[in-house]
Amino acid sequence: DTQIITNPSDQELDMLARALRNGELVSIPTETVYGLGANGLDPEAMDKIYTAKGRPSDNPLILHVPNSESIKPLVTEVSNTAQLLMDTFWPGPLTITLPKSDLVPDRATGGLPRVALRCPDHELCRALLERAGVPIAAPSANISGRPSPTTAQDVYHDMKDRISYILDAGSCTIGVESTVVEVHDDKVIILRPGGITKAQLENVVSTVEYDTALVNANTKPKAPGMKYTHYAPDVPMTVVVGSPEGVASTFKELSAEVEGPIGCLVSHETYDLIKGDTRFICHCFGHHSDALSLGHDFYKSLLHFNEKHVTLILAEGVDDDGFGVAIMNRMEKASSHHIIYK
Ligand code: TXA
Ligand code: MG
Repeated sequence: DTQIITNPSDQELDMLARALRNGELVSIPTETVYGLGANGLDPEAMDKIYTAKGRPSDNPLILHVPNSESIKPLVTEVSNTAQLLMDTFWPGPLTITLPKSDLVPDRATGGLPRVALRCPDHELCRALLERAGVPIAAPSANISGRPSPTTAQDVYHDMKDRISYILDAGSCTIGVESTVVEVHDDKVIILRPGGITKAQLENVVSTVEYDTALVNANTKPKAPGMKYTHYAPDVPMTVVVGSPEGVASTFKELSAEVEGPIGCLVSHETYDLIKGDTRFICHCFGHHSDALSLGHDFYKSLLHFNEKHVTLILAEGVDDDGFGVAIMNRMEKASSHHIIYK
């Protein structure tokens, strides 16, 4: 039986912290997506995460901490660059990987020499992390391969009866996962695009590169999770990138080729151009030129179409720039790379 806890009292927060320390699974809210938390120093507790999610066992976990001081026992050293990144972007949607200390079990890192660390920009989450007193390993709280949850109800849908508690703090503000970076003394490599953009990182570190696997699909990604199909809705999806006019006319052409109702994930601007078509079940997820607004509702919108019995999802893409890089990375995976540029 999974219990949802809203507006926790101090006693309830202590109870959740104790449950985590004792090896139980608790879903935690963050500013990006909901996490599936377990004691990050307890290999058996982390085993439960892999079982609950059906997650491939080579895919390492992010350890969540309440502040940058807490990483000290978990790493062998904190370089100036790592300290600068933490000072600038924590708490926030930036995950850094650093060489791990012996305290960190191999179960957390999938046997890799580095551990991924993140301090979420979410007060209630940090209050729970503080009380737990141990780093909390937490992947997104979805069944592997499905869209990530951004509400407690979405977590409940996937994790009902698989975990002890869900700490409900409403909708996540960002809606897309953190940026994962590998930190070296003189450069930073982006392994997964996310809430912090390349340009933001370039403001503080002179050399910022994308992992070659993000640019060339034939190379092995440094973040093991990036090789898996992810974020997939229940039906096929095609993404169209272009102006609202280009997107609307392409949606009409594509819809002529299939039977049944079609789910359309569109900006308000494109919605105005297609709303007359009765075959389209439309869901607006933000404004055309505002990637932040589109990211906030992206996963929620994909889950919404799973309930609607559509035969195909047509989604409007965004410019591959700034925060749009993170959204297009998720859209590429959700659509198995069915992307049309207009
Ligand atoms: O926003 C987020 O990061 C959310 C919230 C809950 O904090 N968490 C999240 O975790 O997205 P997950 O497990 O769904 O994705 C973690 C990513 C995976 O691609 C994984 O392969 C990579 O980070 N990763 C974790 N540890 C790593 C390591 N030591 N080296 C390289 N990549 C690592
Ligand atoms: Mg995930």
